[in-house]
Amino acid sequence: MEFGPRFADPMGSAAALLETAMAASAAPSPGPVKLFDLIGNTPLVSLAQLLGGDSRVRLFAKAEHMNPGGSVKDRPAANMIRSGERDGSLRPGKTIIDATSGNTGIAYAMIGAAKGYPVKLFLPRNASPERKRILAAYGAELVLTDPALQTDGAIIACRTEYAAHPDRYFYPDQYGNPANWQAHYETTGPEVWSQTRGAVTHFVAGLGTSGTLMGVGRYLREREHPVRIVSLQPSTGFHGLEGLKHMESSIQPGIYDPGLADQNVFVDTEAAYDMVKRLARQTGLMVGISSGANVHAALQLARDLSEGVVVTVLCDGAEKYLSERFWED
Ligand SMILES: Cc1ncc(COP(=O)(O)O)c(C=O)c1O
Repeated sequence: MEFGPRFADPMGSAAALLETAMAASAAPSPGPVKLFDLIGNTPLVSLAQLLGGDSRVRLFAKAEHMNPGGSVKDRPAANMIRSGERDGSLRPGKTIIDATSGNTGIAYAMIGAAKGYPVKLFLPRNASPERKRILAAYGAELVLTDPALQTDGAIIACRTEYAAHPDRYFYPDQYGNPANWQAHYETTGPEVWSQTRGAVTHFVAGLGTSGTLMGVGRYLREREHPVRIVSLQPSTGFHGLEGLKHMESSIQPGIYDPGLADQNVFVDTEAAYDMVKRLARQTGLMVGISSGANVHAALQLARDLSEGVVVTVLCDGAEKYLSERFWED
């Protein structure tokens, strides 16, 4: 099977990524680009080492940590800002305000800095110190909320502030804004399809706002052969899978359709930690905890198949989690 130029196989993971990057840097320069142009078109990385043997199953991940803001959330943030500018709700003088567990905030802060919009973010006080430092470095104003209430506490505080001063703010509301999932419908989904040359049979992604799963899932649903859509959640309400939601015990995002996935799986925090370490040590990929959860679930699924092409997502990189204790265990 032949794959596209940004498809890194069969050497897999970091070695193949390096080759892809080297090939890209050897190609003629396309000339200057804007920050927006660097978002998306991420490589699809082979995780063949995790499967072992000569399985007829293939396992791949979208390297979303290679976006300029370092996560999968650059895509929806850029699309929500673009649609706000288009419909006039975002214009010079307005401040971008939202509740975010970190990565969407980093994307807003990065794009706000590039476009000249102030950014004010509500996030749980226990968000990783690295994330808070990155947000502050981009010049964003941070409002830290009760960690016991997790992202729901941040959402409630943000809604209260917006309701008090609606004229001051552009409130994209990533949990309820269709431009969130549409970013994945319009870009991530088509990339997965073309990078596997239509061979993808399973797509696995964890639910935060649910934008990734809703957008990619809907796009793949409409292709000519059925693709099984698998959603992933933390196994309990109290968990360490930053960015992911246990839907039963959370405020459900407005954009979430519980009927879209063919299958729902639940992952323990410990299993995600183990996979993060395994990815670093066995594949050379340094990724975050939700990526570990995604790959853990995708690998379990792949092991139960006799053939197929399973695709999941590396949501962000490891750098924001380096102070976590699990690296030492
Ligand atoms: C690290 C991380 N992983 C996964 C997700 C979930 O992605 P989505 O919001 O598209 O469901 C997020 C969302 O913020 C995240 O920050």
